Amino acid sequence: MSALAQELAALGLQTAAIDPYSRDESGCGEYPPHAAVQARDAIDVQKVLAFSRARKIPVVPRGAGSGKSGGALAERGGIVLSLEKLDRIVEVSRADMVCVVEPGVILEKLQAAVEAEGLFYPPDPNSQAICSIGGNLAHNAGGPRALKYGVTRDYVLALQAVLPTGELIRTGHRSWKGVAGYDLTQLLVGSEGTLAVIVQATLKVIPLPRSVATLLAFFPDEDAAALAVQKIFGAGLLPRACELLDGPAMRAVSPRAPFKFPEDVGGALIVEHDGHGDSVMEELARSGELCTEAGAREVVAAQDEAQRRRIWETRRMISVALTSIRPHKISEDVAVPRGRLVELIGRVRAIGARYGLPTACYGHAGDGNLHVNLLFGSAEERAKGQAAVEEVLQAAIDLGGTITGEHGVGLAKRAFLAREQSRDVIELQRRLKRAFDPDNLLNPGKILPPA
Ligand code: LAC
Ligand code: ZN
Repeated sequence: MSALAQELAALGLQTAAIDPYSRDESGCGEYPPHAAVQARDAIDVQKVLAFSRARKIPVVPRGAGSGKSGGALAERGGIVLSLEKLDRIVEVSRADMVCVVEPGVILEKLQAAVEAEGLFYPPDPNSQAICSIGGNLAHNAGGPRALKYGVTRDYVLALQAVLPTGELIRTGHRSWKGVAGYDLTQLLVGSEGTLAVIVQATLKVIPLPRSVATLLAFFPDEDAAALAVQKIFGAGLLPRACELLDGPAMRAVSPRAPFKFPEDVGGALIVEHDGHGDSVMEELARSGELCTEAGAREVVAAQDEAQRRRIWETRRMISVALTSIRPHKISEDVAVPRGRLVELIGRVRAIGARYGLPTACYGHAGDGNLHVNLLFGSAEERAKGQAAVEEVLQAAIDLGGTITGEHGVGLAKRAFLAREQSRDVIELQRRLKRAFDPDNLLNPGKILPPA
């Protein structure tokens, strides 16, 4: 145990081995902290932050470690403050249609608890079995169903959080409506653990849709699939999910996935409608027709719940499966206005060809949020990959979009924020950061580029 860990243990805090807290899912590298603490309640969080301030030691809050942008990495060492043990579902209220949760609750568990009451918490970044609600709050997680139902932010009514200066604050309200004062709740959501440590959240829940129907459409190429997205929205339909997979993504995932794609297809869409009556099947059929009009060779509807699950399980496996094409990847989450999706896909293809690197694209095409992956085999190729990625990010900005639609800035995209946001906007965010964290000790260096 390090001297720092011994001091923390002497304060009655539960310390842990640092190794599991040295990395995340971002591929940004290994950053071992000097100590790791597993908070058991808000008082533990207050103790750690008071210690940090007294000793000028950075603190990095951490959820389940499934983040994709390096937000939970201890870039400057210090203490990783894990919220994984704060994992109580405090309450699910049907009367108020809210639930109250601690940050360490694994999303799947929360979804099961509210669904048992006939209620629905829609956000899911596609990793519900491993991600925690605290990480979802910190990054304002999106995922496939954000298309119809919005992102995490749209469900957060109130928070309890500990400020770096030690105060436990309560923001927001339990009522679905409320406009008093500046919206600090929404400022904390998506702040990537740089402004405060969330210790409890009150979330809105809605009625669980009674029926859900899913189809898969197979296209000759990804452009035709993207065209089908335009047609579906052009016809006034709003599926709950509309996910695109390009040829490389399908070929990578197929051999190991429970759902097998036909060999000769170059693009696919997963379209899912939900609701409370017969209109669901009608809407699904209409989406299927529109896919055919856009050039789909085949449209298949999931026959039962088991098949639906296999399709989504396969979709969730893509990210990992891409390593079968090349051992390394740089994985992006750019978003563009929906009408520019076809252009984005074309630009990515051209960038990949120019750099001689394979690409794979998949993701939330319905809301213009595409996971663009640059794949490479060797360390020398990484530099090429990085240069190509810069062009992909610039393309997204040029098309009126953003460098990150859902994974956050963290470390991974810090160097690119100034391409998207003006100097004044970044400076205002620096001033906000100082107001919350005058000593710059809470997750320092994340999001904002160095002054
Ligand atoms: C997904 C993650 C990578 O959509 O955001 O699969
Ligand atoms: Zn995603």
